[in-house]
Amino acid sequence: MGIINDAIKTAGRARYTAAQGIRSAWYGGQYALARRRSAGFNRPGEPVFKPQNKPDLKALRKAYFELFRRDRENIEAGLYPDPVSRDLRLRDLPKAVQRAQNFLSDVAEVDRRRLDRNGTEVRDSEAADPKRFPTYYRQNFHYQTDGWLSEDSAEIYDHQVEALFTGAADAMRRAALAELVRELQGHDQRDIQVLDLACGTGRFMGQIMRAMPKLQLTGLDLSPPYAEAARKNVRHWRHVDVVEGQAEALPFEDEQFDHLISIYLFHELPPRVRPKVIAEAARVLKPGGTFIIADSLQFGDNEGVDGFLEYFPEGFHEPYYKGYLSWAFDPHMNKVGFTSEHQNLAFLTKVRVWRKDA
Ligand SMILES: C[S@@+](CC[C@H](N)C(=O)[O-])C[C@H]1O[C@@H](n2cnc3c(N)ncnc32)[C@H](O)[C@@H]1O
Repeated sequence: MGIINDAIKTAGRARYTAAQGIRSAWYGGQYALARRRSAGFNRPGEPVFKPQNKPDLKALRKAYFELFRRDRENIEAGLYPDPVSRDLRLRDLPKAVQRAQNFLSDVAEVDRRRLDRNGTEVRDSEAADPKRFPTYYRQNFHYQTDGWLSEDSAEIYDHQVEALFTGAADAMRRAALAELVRELQGHDQRDIQVLDLACGTGRFMGQIMRAMPKLQLTGLDLSPPYAEAARKNVRHWRHVDVVEGQAEALPFEDEQFDHLISIYLFHELPPRVRPKVIAEAARVLKPGGTFIIADSLQFGDNEGVDGFLEYFPEGFHEPYYKGYLSWAFDPHMNKVGFTSEHQNLAFLTKVRVWRKDA
């Protein structure tokens, strides 16, 4: 029996490694191609950007492989299903190729904005209604075409993120999923209300639902086209809801949710908005519930990687990221009753688990 189990385990690992290898090559190759087509982070004539911290490629590589080692361990521990068969479905190939084409043909537009340092083009569009969206939101984050405010942007977004992180984005999100699953072990999913705050196109919601199909999950995002894409992504789970709304003024009752989770939201917010979002999170969360925050690493989390983090706002329009790198969550979280429980690092992502005082 032991031999059979070992053989199954070895085969599972080989499958995972092969599949992730293909993913990394697919997205990493496209990122390399996009960089080759781009003019670089500096404008012609500008001095070449030099980070203050020395980027350590060895540390970056180590963190990359460590991410997949832990992901595989989590799969083997049964925390969530193996994504391999889903990631490599042959019938999805035409769509994947189409997305790659869309991504690569958008590179020139992204590059034009980067060279012009134009991160607010979307503000002139009809979609960027100032009555509906705050000024900080009406920007082309990452220099992406249409900002958060078009169907095309929603269609291409997940692909862009995967390419930027050379096929590691889904695995980084799963590091947060592992925390949520661990938290819910032994509970009846049908009784648990979870909010995915700033759910984007629902990529993570899909991962949650495949792991816990009966969970009462709600997603919220301020972007109408992204929220619509999220609805499509989770349409198979009829009890799952996606609403449009603002994280700093949540359209929910006090203590409505058992747990909250938020992926890659906080680095996109101006520092004055972050405490408002934290206060709203505390309001809608039940006492004793967790708020799991997954976002970029910050300075000092993995020193060898600090220098790479400095490149990010240079190459991609990220107006609040530089400050985020040394922004302290603790005083703001503690003030509204959250206590930090633990954290784990997942390549370029840090997952922190906070608990609301009972
Ligand atoms: C970097 S994306 C992350 C999306 C998703 N969580 C993921 O894992 O890919 C940031 C998301 O935050 C949303 N967002 C930004 N500011 C927001 C706000 N004040 N309220 C609600 N959503 C917001 C954007 O519309 C976008 O979908």
